[in-house]
Amino acid sequence: MGAVIEGLGYSVPANVLTNKDMEKLVDTTDEWITERTGIKERRIAPKGTANSQITLGAAQKALSEANTQPMDLDGIIVATVTPDMTFPATACFLQDKLGAGKAFAFDMQAACTGYIYALTVADSLIKAGTVKKILICGSDMLSLLMDFQDRSTCVLFGDGAGAAVLGPGNDNEGIISSRIHSDGSLWELLYAPGGGTVHPICEETIKGRLQYIRMQGNETFKSAVTRLVEVSREVVEASGMEMDDVDLFIPHQANQRILNAVGKRLGLDDDRVYVNLSRYGNTSAASIPIAMAEAHEKGALKKGDIVLLSAFGAGLTWGAALVRF
Ligand code: ACO
Repeated sequence: MGAVIEGLGYSVPANVLTNKDMEKLVDTTDEWITERTGIKERRIAPKGTANSQITLGAAQKALSEANTQPMDLDGIIVATVTPDMTFPATACFLQDKLGAGKAFAFDMQAACTGYIYALTVADSLIKAGTVKKILICGSDMLSLLMDFQDRSTCVLFGDGAGAAVLGPGNDNEGIISSRIHSDGSLWELLYAPGGGTVHPICEETIKGRLQYIRMQGNETFKSAVTRLVEVSREVVEASGMEMDDVDLFIPHQANQRILNAVGKRLGLDDDRVYVNLSRYGNTSAASIPIAMAEAHEKGALKKGDIVLLSAFGAGLTWGAALVRF
């Protein structure tokens, strides 16, 4: 038995922050951001928006496409690094908002790789026969972690959410193979130190701007290319397929130059790589599910297509999945 994707949905805040707007906030230019990252604009949620509120929109669309009622869900997993509160889990708030009273609900934290982690766990639970229907969401509001005194990071990120309903299918359907990896020794490449036990929220934490993202851009870039290529090959080989069998590659939308380098090394032409980075920036755990749902909506992802999903993020974490859509 496999786990199939029965419905997809995404939701992004209406408010657009363009590179031209960014020029007024930090010492940067539209040209620099476009050339170095491929990003033109990103969505920013209004102050006070709960993550679960954005996720609700994505989840309702996925449920509707899957023709599934909230009470039919056995589980909800939300991948995020920007939860509603420290606890309870954002998935619990979402369960309440949806009225999915029979579903277990928990959050998963693997930064930008969170959605692939959630997909892998949900797939395993369904394959084990423990549960039938799981809603997985990737949702982040990294605008809250963007330091507008650090031009090298604040231009990269945006807010949004994506969701999928997974259910049981036949052996040759749905998630064919998936792999997840971590290397905690490289945590210093990308992290947000404040708000946890090491640097609890206090005056000094805020004064030191410890609540914001810190990143070694060049090293992160190099690791991202190497790991995305490795894990993409790993899942394709594990499924007994070839890279030529892949109809659509949907990578984590971090930087156009990373996507170009990975696509080239994997031998995937531009027309087989789905990119929406220019419009949303890096939305962390939301990037793959937003791109998947959007590709499906636009007809770029069709029933029966072989889709390769690969992500990379803080931790370091990375992972991939090969899916027959
Ligand atoms: N505008 C103008 N100039 C800038 C900006 C900016 N926004 N940001 C940096 N610069 C300057 C730097 O100050 C530097 O100037 P200097 O040479 O005078 O010192 C120059 O541009 C070059 O800086 P680099 O950091 O070397 O630029 P690089 O080409 O590496 O691009 C970037 C930086 C875009 C961050 C790139 O390294 C990158 O994309 N890295 C990967 C990031 C990533 O994917 N992170 C997310 C992982 S997913 C997750 O878990 C959230």
